[in-house]
Amino acid sequence: MSSQIIESGLSTTVHDIHRALASLQEELEAIDYYNQRAESSHDQSLKDILIHNRDEEIEHAAMLLEWLRNAMPVFDGTLGAILFKDGSVTENVKQIEDKAGKPS
Ligand SMILES: [Fe+2]
Repeated sequence: MSSQIIESGLSTTVHDIHRALASLQEELEAIDYYNQRAESSHDQSLKDILIHNRDEEIEHAAMLLEWLRNAMPVFDGTLGAILFKDGSVTENVKQIEDKAGKPS
């Protein structure tokens, strides 16, 4: 995975957001690797270690997401509207978009 700054003259805030987003991508990729390796491992002690490591990567990803939620108000609003809600995710998003007058 590679990430790069694609525009020059960006603010330090945008650079920091880029760093957080790139790090989040890497944490999510690590979660996927550990998850796949844990499931395919034949040794229980190795499986336990890989599951432990996967869960730590989930913690790291959550920390970055929280940082992004504070740094980018749209993350805060969107996550608040979508996460920890009962019912269908797609139906909940459709209702949010309908209220905002957004086309689906
Ligand atoms: Fe990590």
